[in-house]
Amino acid sequence: MTEHLTIVDHPLVQHKLTLMRDKETPTAVFRQLLREISHLLAYEVTRNLAVTTKWIDTPLTEMKAPVLDGRKLALVSILRAGNGLLDGMLDLIPSARVGFVGLYRDEETLKPVQYYCKLPGELGERLVIAVDPMLATGNSSAAAVDLLKANGATDIRFLCLLAAPEGVARMKEAHPDVPVVTAALDERLNEKGYIVPGLGDAGDRMFGTK
Ligand code: URA
Repeated sequence: MTEHLTIVDHPLVQHKLTLMRDKETPTAVFRQLLREISHLLAYEVTRNLAVTTKWIDTPLTEMKAPVLDGRKLALVSILRAGNGLLDGMLDLIPSARVGFVGLYRDEETLKPVQYYCKLPGELGERLVIAVDPMLATGNSSAAAVDLLKANGATDIRFLCLLAAPEGVARMKEAHPDVPVVTAALDERLNEKGYIVPGLGDAGDRMFGTK
């Protein structure tokens, strides 16, 4: 991917996102919508995966048909909200290896604190797609990418549902080599670091916590 920021403005994505933003949307529907949107986002973030060809027999003839070139792929969920995007991604790429990075945001400093990290091996040989629905301040996203790079990853993409301009700028400054794919770029962050208009706390909306 060459663009630093890709906004997936497909009508289906935008429609489902509107339903997710609505505060009346119940938890189970929110989760289902996130799964559906993640299929559509997965399509975009994997658009230029390399393909090769192999000979197959159709019922009519033989043909040289395209297949993924078998490059190793890793999906890394930034806990806990990342798991909502991860599930949908795995529907489409079931053989991907999966990693988890646990970071919580200190509500006073808004800085990320790491509490968990479990990553697949050979990260340097994989395309690594980090997933987190909300790119807000960008602090935890940038820290997660720091961690991936420290573990050898060199080819990283960042997939989110909503991004704030502040988060995009932070990621561009910290990791200009990491393309960001999102369904929408919102207006701003509020004083608590929430994306506005946003959809609230993605983890709470997804899991029914508060
Ligand atoms: N995390 C969320 O879940 N929501 C926001 O608006 C910002 C960060």
